[in-house]
Amino acid sequence: TASREVDLSSIKPGTTVTVKYHGKPVFIRRRTDEDMKLANTVDIGSLCDTQPDSDGVKNPKWLIMIGICTHLGCIPLPNAGDFGGWFCSFHGLHYDISGRIRKGPALYNLEVTTCSFLEENKLLIG
Ligand code: FES
Repeated sequence: TASREVDLSSIKPGTTVTVKYHGKPVFIRRRTDEDMKLANTVDIGSLCDTQPDSDGVKNPKWLIMIGICTHLGCIPLPNAGDFGGWFCSFHGLHYDISGRIRKGPALYNLEVTTCSFLEENKLLIG
């Protein structure tokens, strides 16, 4: 299966871009210092899908996940919801800035995408 190279240099801190990979949306979020702080100030034990932020990122400045709601497959909106991450309006589900489910009818976090950094601003998905 083909990998996909993405140039990250034009993505501004605090924004998410969505690219397609094998027909699926992939969220690429350039996190701010505030985002990184927020992602790590969570009591992991209180989460329904316990995942430390470090499990979901290769480089804490970037969060790269499959952009499909783990409830019933809608595409959540970035920079929305009660936890600074994503909001899926279909059934009112909130993900945090680490892609973790925080409120609503799903049991699992957004899926981490297989990827690697070729250079500081060059990502390889797949
Ligand atoms: Fe996202 Fe149900 S599909 S909340």
